[in-house]
Amino acid sequence: MMKWIIFAAVLGSVWSQQTSEPDIDVFFGTENGGNVFPGSTRPFGMVKMGFDVIDSSAGVVFSGYAKDGNVAGISMMHESGTGGSPEYGVVSQLPLIGDIDYSSQSSLGRSSDDIGSVGYYSCNFNNGIQAEFAAADRAGIYQYSFPENNEPKVMINVTHHLANANKPYWSQYFVNGSVEANSDKNGYKGQATFTGGWACQDPWTIYFCGDFENGADSVESFVGTSSSDSSQASTNANESVGIVFTFPSNQAIIRSRVGISFISTDQACSNIKNDFKDYNLNSTVSDTKTLWDDQVFDKVDVNNDNETLSNLLYTALYGAHLVPSNKTGENPHWDSPEPYYDDWFTMWDTFRCLNPLFNVLSPSRGAELIRSLIDIYKHDGYTPDGRSANQNGKTQGGSNSDVLMADAYVKGVHDRINWDDAFAAMVKNAEVTPPYWYDFKAPDASTKEGRGGLSDWIGLGYVSRNYTRSVTRTMEFSYDDFALSVVAKGIGNDTAHDKYLKRSANWQNIWNHNATSGSCKYSGFVQPKNPDGSWAYDDYDPLSCGNCYWGDDEYEGKPVEYGWAVPHDIATLIDFIGDNDTFIARLDDMFGLNGQEFADIGNEPSFLTPYLYNFVNANYKTTETIRYLINTKYSIGPSGLPGNSDAGAMQAWLFFGLMGFYPVAGTTTYLISSPFFSSATFNLENDKKVKITASNLSNDNIYIQSVEINGDSWNKNWFTHDDIFENGGSIHFELGSAPCRWDTGDVPPSPGHIM
Ligand SMILES: *[C@@H]1O[C@H](CO)[C@@H](O)[C@H](O)[C@H]1NC(C)=O
Ligand SMILES: *[C@@H]1O[C@H](CO)[C@@H](O)[C@H](O)[C@H]1NC(C)=O
Ligand SMILES: *[C@@H]1O[C@H](CO)[C@@H](O)[C@H](O)[C@H]1NC(C)=O
Ligand SMILES: *[C@@H]1O[C@H](CO)[C@@H](O)[C@H](O)[C@H]1NC(C)=O
Ligand SMILES: *[C@@H]1O[C@H](CO)[C@@H](O)[C@H](O)[C@H]1NC(C)=O
Ligand SMILES: *[C@@H]1O[C@H](CO)[C@@H](O)[C@H](O)[C@H]1NC(C)=O
Ligand SMILES: *[C@@H]1O[C@H](CO)[C@@H](O)[C@H](O)[C@H]1NC(C)=O
Ligand SMILES: *[C@@H]1O[C@H](CO)[C@@H](O)[C@H](O)[C@H]1NC(C)=O
Ligand SMILES: *[C@@H]1O[C@H](CO)[C@@H](O)[C@H](O)[C@H]1NC(C)=O
Ligand SMILES: *[C@@H]1O[C@H](CO)[C@@H](O)[C@H](O)[C@H]1NC(C)=O
Ligand SMILES: *[C@@H]1O[C@H](CO)[C@@H](O)[C@H](O)[C@H]1NC(C)=O
Repeated sequence: MMKWIIFAAVLGSVWSQQTSEPDIDVFFGTENGGNVFPGSTRPFGMVKMGFDVIDSSAGVVFSGYAKDGNVAGISMMHESGTGGSPEYGVVSQLPLIGDIDYSSQSSLGRSSDDIGSVGYYSCNFNNGIQAEFAAADRAGIYQYSFPENNEPKVMINVTHHLANANKPYWSQYFVNGSVEANSDKNGYKGQATFTGGWACQDPWTIYFCGDFENGADSVESFVGTSSSDSSQASTNANESVGIVFTFPSNQAIIRSRVGISFISTDQACSNIKNDFKDYNLNSTVSDTKTLWDDQVFDKVDVNNDNETLSNLLYTALYGAHLVPSNKTGENPHWDSPEPYYDDWFTMWDTFRCLNPLFNVLSPSRGAELIRSLIDIYKHDGYTPDGRSANQNGKTQGGSNSDVLMADAYVKGVHDRINWDDAFAAMVKNAEVTPPYWYDFKAPDASTKEGRGGLSDWIGLGYVSRNYTRSVTRTMEFSYDDFALSVVAKGIGNDTAHDKYLKRSANWQNIWNHNATSGSCKYSGFVQPKNPDGSWAYDDYDPLSCGNCYWGDDEYEGKPVEYGWAVPHDIATLIDFIGDNDTFIARLDDMFGLNGQEFADIGNEPSFLTPYLYNFVNANYKTTETIRYLINTKYSIGPSGLPGNSDAGAMQAWLFFGLMGFYPVAGTTTYLISSPFFSSATFNLENDKKVKITASNLSNDNIYIQSVEINGDSWNKNWFTHDDIFENGGSIHFELGSAPCRWDTGDVPPSPGHIM
């Protein structure tokens, strides 16, 4: 089990003592648009067991959960932290008492706040029923406590799923399904097919198998609005279908286990047997907690002088390990010995810091993720940027799996990865226009996979305004091509390295040195360009991106934000901006340090921006900005995230911010900010440790005065993966209350800089 370690750090001499466990808040980021999934699941679990709420004042529910509103089912699959439109919420049960009106949707109000902890969830319904549940790997267990002297009922509504009436074009729909109870009335199996959702999935089928600890008295089934005493039901129409088990009134506790599978009902049934020996909810919960400790929480120990902060740190780690889902052995489309991960929702969100976090904490997982992407490329033709329900889609900007590959490559995450195949997948993204896939939000080019607007990119050296999201695409294709150059070099393909490094500079083609903004005094911004090379818009405003959505020039970020999005070549950016002071002044305008606040840390395009001060050796400014952002935009509790969690991307950003350094994805560089903890230890998979200590830390003493890495004094505000994560190592910070220009060494590298 995980324990806190209290460190008394006196210049390197460290002793430790075990105390209580951290308090993981599974409801962190569930409200205020965070959309985090709070139900029961294991790290990267295929089963994410939780509520599906209807009638919430919060409107559409994305992870199934909302604090208020009625519960229409407790179902087996969810996503976490997504926007756009909800997916899954399928294979459900609902405990009921009394008569059922099949002409309307059955649902239950709650009589108290839900209780959730790692692996466990419980709630009390208005009708006196308590429902508890716990997920295992491919199956889950329900335990219902019914009020005395009522006939307990459990409804299996095969049609049940998350929907989005506000966006019918992105809603999921039920296609067909069936369910059948066994003759002992203590089990059932069936299947359901759904279509639609955010990526407009083709119909896909989930199989299920359920059993009860004790048999029911009777079974009835329903189709549409009518019911019968048949023990089976099916439909091909868009209508309600399911069965209801009614138990003897002396059975106050009902326990049930449900397995799911994308392969068959038989596999769903065997998933129950693989996951459970009995009907013990508690042991399932404790097994799940152990897995979270082993695979996630034990990877990092921090001092807990400030418990609020340490709980926040572990809560962030929790939310960063919910997706993608490990569906190895559950791929319905092809047989393969390779690992299989689904629910990439989406890489556009996660490539910047969540995947780099996996490569630090769990390189073996990182390698499985890459192998899974290569296998998807081999069988589906392209790596995904987004993927759920076993289908690629959608792509918001670039082909960001390229950056995942490069990040794994440079960090030595190589276990059983065939890099020639990985590079072939990247070249496909970079060279082959994906088959046209109609997207009514952006009909100009495919958003399913690969790169839309690729012919412009190859032919013109930028994506022109002839395509939607041309600025986003140009900026991201540049970074993606940089990622190709990295892997090409690694596998010894110098020709390809040179080619893609050159292409990675293409963002410069949409930098208009003369572009100005009325609200800020600088010139030089990225600007959409027409196919003939002329700048789009006479009245161009770099502070506006319209709706910043599918049909606009930029996606979820203003031009003024996208201008910074060249992590591989900040040197050229500084050159374009003119001088160090202007670079700093422009950064100051991004996050409110000068009263202006042009950037939104609640969306990913600006994730790296507050760290860029390091490129002009002004780490104290990075420190101020990260402190400001974490202290004002993040907080503890359900509303603690500044936007959608985005599959844990927000939590990963928070994690690095609290630790005091941040990865430049696809490179070996980590940029130093300033730590929030006086001691942190990374327990690496290779059994080595990285110890990070800070003396003199307080709410006022945030500024670095000096740094030592591996015992040597260090005047660079960055370090490489090899410096500390390859063989273990240490970082020691001396902090003080006054800004200090301690960083006098080489500035962080700009590996994309071509002289
Ligand atoms: C079953 O689920 C569907 C889809 O959510 C819903 O429309 C229907 O009303 C439900 N049926 C019952 C009896 O609750
Ligand atoms: C359910 O719908 C899918 C997709 O349209 C179809 O392939 C399948 O045959 C249908 N199943 C049944 C039992 O009708
Ligand atoms: C299916 O029925 C639901 C509820 O009646 C409705 O909202 C939805 O639009 C229907 N879907 C289709 C594809 O007809
Ligand atoms: C399960 O755990 C709860 C809370 O710790 C406890 O009250 C209950 O008795 C346990 N049940 C079993 C069957 O061990
Ligand atoms: C804990 O850390 C937070 C964030 O830095 C800070 O605001 C708070 O004052 C600290 N609490 C204590 C008791 O030091
Ligand atoms: C992913 O799931 C497969 C099948 O259950 C399992 O063998 C593998 O160890 C899992 N991966 C990790 C990193 O846990
Ligand atoms: C603009 O893009 C469309 C495809 O969306 C293409 O048919 C057309 O030729 C392009 N126009 C120019 C000027 O490139
Ligand atoms: C290098 O990569 C290119 C793709 O850019 C490929 O066509 C070529 O065959 C590769 N060269 C070698 C020697 O593998
Ligand atoms: C920028 O404006 C100057 C004159 O103000 C002009 O000489 C120059 O050609 C312009 N550059 C571009 C790239 O439009
Ligand atoms: C800009 O900052 C860098 C890093 O401190 C420094 O090396 C460079 O000399 C500065 N440039 C100017 C013109 O001062
Ligand atoms: C600790 O911070 C204080 C300011 O709060 C400063 O006076 C002192 O020099 C710092 N100590 C060290 C060892 O840096």
